[in-house]
Amino acid sequence: MREILVTSALPYANGYIHLGHLVEYIQTDIWVRSLKAQGHQVTYVCADDAHGTAIMLKAEDNGVTPEEQIASVKASHEADFDKFLIDFDNYHTTHSEENKHFSELIYRRLNNAGHISTKDVEQLFDPEKQLFLADRFVKGECPECDAADQYGDNCEVCGTTYDATELKNPYSTLSDATPVLRTSKHYFFDLPEFEQFLKSWTRSDNRLQVSVANKLQEWFDAGLTSWDISRDAPYFGFQIPDTSSDEPDKYFYVWLDAPVGYMASFKNLCDKRAGTENALDFDRYWAQENENKTEVYHIIGKDIVYFHALFWPAMLSGSELRTPTGVFAHGFLMVNGEKMSKSRGTFIKAETYAKHLHPEYLRYYFASKLSDKVEDINLDLEDFMQKVNSDLVGKVVNIASRSAGFIVKKYDGMLSEVCAEPKLLEDITKTGDEIAAAYENREFSLAMRLIMQCADKANEYIDGKKPWALAKQEGTEQEVQDVCSVAINIFRQLMVYLAPVLPELTANAKDFLNIDDLSFSSRNQWLLGHKINKFKPLMQRIEEKDLAAMVEDSKASLAQTDTPAANANTKSATTTDNDAEPTDYISIDDFSKVEMKVAHVVACNHVEGADKLLQFTLDVGEEKPRNVFSGIRKFYEPEQLVDKKVVCVTNLAPRKMKFGVSEGMVLSTGDPKTGLTVVTLPDACVVGDVLA
Ligand code: 2FM
Ligand code: ZN
Repeated sequence: MREILVTSALPYANGYIHLGHLVEYIQTDIWVRSLKAQGHQVTYVCADDAHGTAIMLKAEDNGVTPEEQIASVKASHEADFDKFLIDFDNYHTTHSEENKHFSELIYRRLNNAGHISTKDVEQLFDPEKQLFLADRFVKGECPECDAADQYGDNCEVCGTTYDATELKNPYSTLSDATPVLRTSKHYFFDLPEFEQFLKSWTRSDNRLQVSVANKLQEWFDAGLTSWDISRDAPYFGFQIPDTSSDEPDKYFYVWLDAPVGYMASFKNLCDKRAGTENALDFDRYWAQENENKTEVYHIIGKDIVYFHALFWPAMLSGSELRTPTGVFAHGFLMVNGEKMSKSRGTFIKAETYAKHLHPEYLRYYFASKLSDKVEDINLDLEDFMQKVNSDLVGKVVNIASRSAGFIVKKYDGMLSEVCAEPKLLEDITKTGDEIAAAYENREFSLAMRLIMQCADKANEYIDGKKPWALAKQEGTEQEVQDVCSVAINIFRQLMVYLAPVLPELTANAKDFLNIDDLSFSSRNQWLLGHKINKFKPLMQRIEEKDLAAMVEDSKASLAQTDTPAANANTKSATTTDNDAEPTDYISIDDFSKVEMKVAHVVACNHVEGADKLLQFTLDVGEEKPRNVFSGIRKFYEPEQLVDKKVVCVTNLAPRKMKFGVSEGMVLSTGDPKTGLTVVTLPDACVVGDVLA
């Protein structure tokens, strides 16, 4: 029996759980349940990530203390997780005594070993709010292209990355005040000292997926830098211990104590279980010398690999604690092939989903999509409905519903004493080994495919034997009982295989089958001469109207409530960067103010002194061509765009830039950091026509 500790990333305590988050919790929960079903001792812990500026400001907005804020969010998170059958062994908070203890312990050990240093840092400070401004709380003009209203880390127009202090005419998004430069002492964790350790750690023992290890190599190539682990007051978090008396108000940056929260939640569980038969020994899981006795896995979103595969193992190793056995990342959730969108009603809260649809539908659909790869997964609502209806209702539940009636009515619930099709059953029992391996390797889509193949075999068998027709003939009593008994036995196997994904349905099936075990090994005991109970429908079909109602409700609920502010200290939420979706709707009137015209690229050139920009001469059907700058230099050679038809926003106020006046904007898609594609139009489009 293996002893395994598994975690999912800790959700921020300033917003609700949405379907993007659930990809991760459902994935982890299925994995944990499957390992438990194999007889391993598995512990699954999580917690709310309760610290940081965003949470402090959110509490202020709501007129409550940060403690009140995080308590109410935690209760709502736990209620959502319950609905989706996420079976944590413990759910804690990072604002806890245990977390303070371990954060301080780790920090002191790192400090004593010489891994912490201090440095003066000059930063923008809001004189009205009296706080240092993280990048997303400062806006101003881009130092490269002068575009207005750009955040403190990069320009969305030309893609340049810079320091907030380089912005021109900066202002605080919290108070509109002009920030001032202020210097303060910061504490740094010396990550570069761990380079050799990390290089070997990330490449050994299959700890990371190959694509993640390759990404890390890019970071190694770029060079590791020391990590700023302190924030100045006011900050909601833990004060850094042992700071000098002239620098009292230093706090741990939220990302320092967040992963320690895994340990803290586990310790909290150890304390709760002390003296019981389920007691857990904290040191067995976290002491360095026990590293080979137990396993620790973190399941995370692909956006937080840096924290989990570099900072966290370095922190643990530097403080002489064990490092994780594995860190596994997953991709983001798309809905209907696109980023979740509030206005399209596809930014769906867990709570809203659960009002309209059974959580197990989603658990199955996610399982049918998930693999061990770091790939985005797509929830296509039409496909979701069809897959659930056809696989679960049409194939799996149907096996029981078309056989149970005969057994209960005609044979008083008794299954045959002898299995009439041992080969078929053996075959399905054997497939269980492949299914178990697929679960273990987090290849859930493969597991679901194998399970559905078994269901197909059962249905083919029943269709071939036609018990409903047999039952009308004379002298076929035994055969009807035998056929239905085989079907019920296969159904039981399928319940074992699906239990990690559908805990509620399979628990109900357990009552119907009159059995008390769905562990993986239980599939070896066939139900012979066994009495089953009356069959009750185990799952309803998804109706189109339920999906439509969920989408409408999502639009309405997000229009009414405010959305969680993304945490100040990181760009995205746990499992999706969808929180970047703008919160505010624009009216149709606002939209109709934007004038977009078909433009012909007459000329396109490099701009001397600007390595991000291309300069366009565009014919938009006016007397004079327009001059437009666009931040796509990295992605195009000018000649690729000459003579193309593109979309130009023609009523944008002209912007004076270092290199001239920009008289419009060329539309592109994609991310300025990783790749932009200019939207081009078919030749048939007429220059100067308005896009509507
Ligand atoms: O990205 C996030 O949503 C973070 N709250 C995840 C923290 S995971 C761990 F390190 F605590
Ligand atoms: Zn710019």
